[in-house]
Amino acid sequence: MADKSLVDLSWDDFDEHRDPRSNENQFDQVVDRAVSRRGFLGGALAFGSGAAVFGTGLFSSTAAARADGHMKFGFKPIDIATDYEIHVPEGFDHKVLVRWGDALWTEAKDAYDAQNGVSVDMSDKVFGENTDGMELFEVDGKQLITVNSEYVNPKINLPAASEGTPQTADEVVLLKNLQGVTVMEIADTGNGFEVVLDSAYNRRITHETEMAIAGPLAGHALVQTKADPAGLMVKGTMNNCGSGKTLWDTYLTCEENFNGYFGATGDMPDGEGYTRYGIGGSGRYAYEKFDERYDISKEPNEPHRHGFITEIDPSDPTSTPVKRTALGRFKHENAEMVHAKDGRVVVYMGDDERGEFLYKYVSNGTWEQGAATDGLLDDGVLYAAKFNDDQTGEWLALTPETTGMEIADILCFTRMAASKVGATTMDRPEWVASNPLKVEAYCALTNNKNRGVKPNAGGDDTSVNAVNPRETNNYGQIVRWTPADENHAADGFAWDLYVMAGNPEVYDNIYGGSDNINAGNMFNSPDGMAFSSDGLLWIQTDGNYKNEGDFAGMGNNQMLVGDPESGEIIRFMTVPNGAEVTGLCWSADKKVAFVGVQHPGGSWPDGEGKPRSSVVSVWRQDGAQFG
Ligand code: FEO
Ligand code: CA
Ligand code: CA
Repeated sequence: MADKSLVDLSWDDFDEHRDPRSNENQFDQVVDRAVSRRGFLGGALAFGSGAAVFGTGLFSSTAAARADGHMKFGFKPIDIATDYEIHVPEGFDHKVLVRWGDALWTEAKDAYDAQNGVSVDMSDKVFGENTDGMELFEVDGKQLITVNSEYVNPKINLPAASEGTPQTADEVVLLKNLQGVTVMEIADTGNGFEVVLDSAYNRRITHETEMAIAGPLAGHALVQTKADPAGLMVKGTMNNCGSGKTLWDTYLTCEENFNGYFGATGDMPDGEGYTRYGIGGSGRYAYEKFDERYDISKEPNEPHRHGFITEIDPSDPTSTPVKRTALGRFKHENAEMVHAKDGRVVVYMGDDERGEFLYKYVSNGTWEQGAATDGLLDDGVLYAAKFNDDQTGEWLALTPETTGMEIADILCFTRMAASKVGATTMDRPEWVASNPLKVEAYCALTNNKNRGVKPNAGGDDTSVNAVNPRETNNYGQIVRWTPADENHAADGFAWDLYVMAGNPEVYDNIYGGSDNINAGNMFNSPDGMAFSSDGLLWIQTDGNYKNEGDFAGMGNNQMLVGDPESGEIIRFMTVPNGAEVTGLCWSADKKVAFVGVQHPGGSWPDGEGKPRSSVVSVWRQDGAQFG
């Protein structure tokens, strides 16, 4: 049974609480190295002089953000906010497109109740809770949004007496149904975009939806269970965080904190394969009490069937989602697919946990528009990134030769394979976004309170280094890399830091941030990212919104826009107190942006009753494109 005191923790803190890992592992060496590294960083403490200690160009913006540079963005930046509203720039409007509990089919029109939420029998006929990654697809002249519902807040969804822990099997079904993925048709009816009720494309994919296991792990003993002795068909995709879109217009959903759904009612199986992923103890939602599939003392292989990139075809509501095991198993944030110069398909992927790694997958086959896609996501090589302090880097192949592991083990226990090759431990890799106008990619490293403090769950050293340059990093940074020979499939790359978030009002040192951070654009914890077609980088935050102490002057979570060329960053949007901003896509005509608002506080957006995670439409009042 889930520990009620754990219900209110974030997923990261939940893992920290459950994970008994010691901080004594190599602790002295970690501290020693951190101290010597601080000496190395000493020149950067007077930050006005820039971080030239790393040589030229570690930080991309050589000039402070320019007050006259807003022409490129087409709007004036907005101030921070601390209220329970949404704010957008002058000349823009916004409205809610869809809220948790809103109907996808007419029969669920009255499903949501302000006091009680949604009943179990309607729970797979409404928009799920905690919206996250999303992508827009054009199918037969229709516009479809495919969007994740990352997790549920059990205190909002369950009767108050339960205190956030399901008491019945029906309550577990309710929670399962309000997560997963939604496909929904949207249309502009003259009153802004709305969900098209009863569209033939509308679909809910939940923790009970059947999906195929593909790639090298399909049928392997590691993924065989009592219910699926062949190891080919699994139920559910869970903790769907960021997203991706394939070159052939299918949706990639990314299974992040899957470990938290499993618990043990009896003896736990042993092994690094469980501890490295934080699997064990009590599950966050007590699923294991009502569904044996989630009880690792009875079904030790079920966790091996989650933590993958899963491909969904939104154009066919009867299609079976496919778990692509060749892309590795870890806490997947998003999946940024690019077409390499040599024709191969490359997918960049972050593993969002303190001190884990950045990955890429490269297909063995090549693709061109209209060609068959069979095997492209099943047959390829997985790599983990090594960032050298001289601003070069290399992608380290995870193969039987480099790791001493069999391919099935590499793909099921990918973190352990990346540790073996000496990949660089990172400050929580979140979304990767690639520039449509240039061969380069960016990854948000959201924060890492353990940097320079204790090793990762595999015991890997997490001393500060050039790409993760701050001990106890509570602000985060965005790294950018340019692949060798302008080929995303190449082994080598050069990198710099596009921005290092910080608070220049509080710190006159490296914690003040890079020089494209100022009192007018401060933020912390970059997370979601996407490029618009005009080559601007949109940055969404999921951080501390208390607006005090180290975070004073940053306000609520926000969405900013960055210019890759000048380094300038300005604030576009703020969301209600308590919420994070996550998920971004544009209408087919690029005139409307759809932005996800997850876990809002207060009673947003209804003004009374429960807070409701929602997707919001934003557009220019003059009707011009802006995406
Ligand atoms: Fe679900 Fe790493 O954010
Ligand atoms: Ca995220
Ligand atoms: Ca986050």
